[in-house]
Amino acid sequence: MLDNAARELVKATVPVLQQHGVTLTRHFYARMFAHHPELMPVFNQTSQKTGSQQQALAMAVLAYAEHIDHPEVLLPVLKLIANKHVSLGIRAEHYAIVGKHLLASIKEVLGDAASDALIDAWAAAYTQLADILIAQEQQLYQHAVNQEGGWSGWRSFIVEKKVKESDEITSFYLKPRDGGKVPLYAAGQYISVKLPVPSMEMTQTRQYSLSAAPGKATLRISVKNERGTTSRPRGVVSSLLHDSVEEGNLIDVAPPMGDYYLHEDRDTPVVLISAGVGITPHWAMLERLIETRSPRQILLIHACRHGGVHGFKQQLQQWRQAPIASCALNTIVYYENPRDSDRLASDYDRSGRLQLDEIASSHLPPDADYYLCGPVAFMQEQIGNLKRLGIDPLKIYSEAFGSGGVVA
Ligand SMILES: Cc1cc2nc3c(=O)[nH]c(=O)nc-3n(C[C@H](O)[C@H](O)[C@H](O)COP(=O)(O)OP(=O)(O)OC[C@H]3O[C@@H](n4cnc5c(N)ncnc54)[C@H](O)[C@@H]3O)c2cc1C
Ligand code: HEM
Repeated sequence: MLDNAARELVKATVPVLQQHGVTLTRHFYARMFAHHPELMPVFNQTSQKTGSQQQALAMAVLAYAEHIDHPEVLLPVLKLIANKHVSLGIRAEHYAIVGKHLLASIKEVLGDAASDALIDAWAAAYTQLADILIAQEQQLYQHAVNQEGGWSGWRSFIVEKKVKESDEITSFYLKPRDGGKVPLYAAGQYISVKLPVPSMEMTQTRQYSLSAAPGKATLRISVKNERGTTSRPRGVVSSLLHDSVEEGNLIDVAPPMGDYYLHEDRDTPVVLISAGVGITPHWAMLERLIETRSPRQILLIHACRHGGVHGFKQQLQQWRQAPIASCALNTIVYYENPRDSDRLASDYDRSGRLQLDEIASSHLPPDADYYLCGPVAFMQEQIGNLKRLGIDPLKIYSEAFGSGGVVA
């Protein structure tokens, strides 16, 4: 437990962190990788280049310093971080390495302003935070390994089937190489996959939401091909999955994790709102609700550019045309720029960007659970809209396909 003096010292660094947090975390990563190059593959090297991981860590350290008197308000964020860490195979022994280089970086970046008392206060604060995360992660590791079909760390899977879902999205059906079962994950959770990246001479790991309901012999992920633009290079792992990973190949997979999942302990309506490839966790939730014959009222709202990039379109069309017995499913599909062929096929309901206001009065039940997944800007906008429409923020759940969660 931190004493008052230590807490005051940590709080006093808030203005410095607000101004120089990213400089500090940049310095920290460079320092840690120089001493521990073996940790580089554990981190997303694209996020390192774009700075999003430095930003995420700086924000976490700042939030911790700001809330040092009431660290319990950070519990939801810590849950997200712990799940991500476990999915990446972070272990208790890594915390000593991070702690050592974080404290040394505070000293080096702050210079004379970093008194011995301040460094001691931060050392105690770091230990307190690390202990909370290590304990949460220990529980997650234990839960993962104790389930039927569960495991800890990396397990080898065979790509049993590769199926194109749209011009951009391809599904991969992954079967354990050891012939064993896969666990009953919660619909909405993700796995990490680890691939060797020849151009970088190291492995890289990425997370992919499980896009099918639990209870199958395989795990399915559905991956968007991040093709890049003239100003943005192609996505490292997604392009390898699309172009180089074939049926019969092996990939390493971490157990299902994540704090974004369908809450099945209630009977209130469910509203699933997604954009683009953000539909993947919602597809697992939707399948789960259908397969369990849930009596809950379900609304799937999906927005994408046009029919060519609309993942799972055929299956959705089937469900739209031939309603499933005992399932109260309603769907609203937005195409931002529909093609002529989309108009002919009536594959969508509305054109333009998703406007929650225009469907609010007829479609958005106040007592529903709202799940959101898509680009961060899309989620921030929709969370803002839902709050304005009077939806209880505690009933809004969101998943960001990157670092740092969603702040709206
Ligand atoms: C919980 C979770 C669930 C996810 N689920 C899914 C899912 O179901 N399906 C899915 O497709 N993805 C999902 N993702 C995203 C996925 O993990 C990867 O981030 C995604 O596939 C891109 O990885 P990549 O290696 O191909 O691209 P990266 O190499 O990591 O690049 C990411 C993006 O940055 C751009 N970029 C690269 N370099 C630069 C630069 N210097 N400047 C600016 N931009 C740059 C790239 O063009 C690309 O668009 C999920 C992520 C999380 C965290
Ligand atoms: C108290 C200590 C720590 C804090 C506060 C912390 C904080 C964070 C945060 C905020 C994220 C982003 C989560 C997200 O939004 O997805 C993250 C991700 C991550 N953390 Fe930690 N972390 C800590 C310790 C560690 C340790 C010990 C390691 C192991 C060396 C580690 C490795 C990672 C990795 C690899 C990621 C994913 C980012 C990427 O893919 O590049 N962290 N952490």
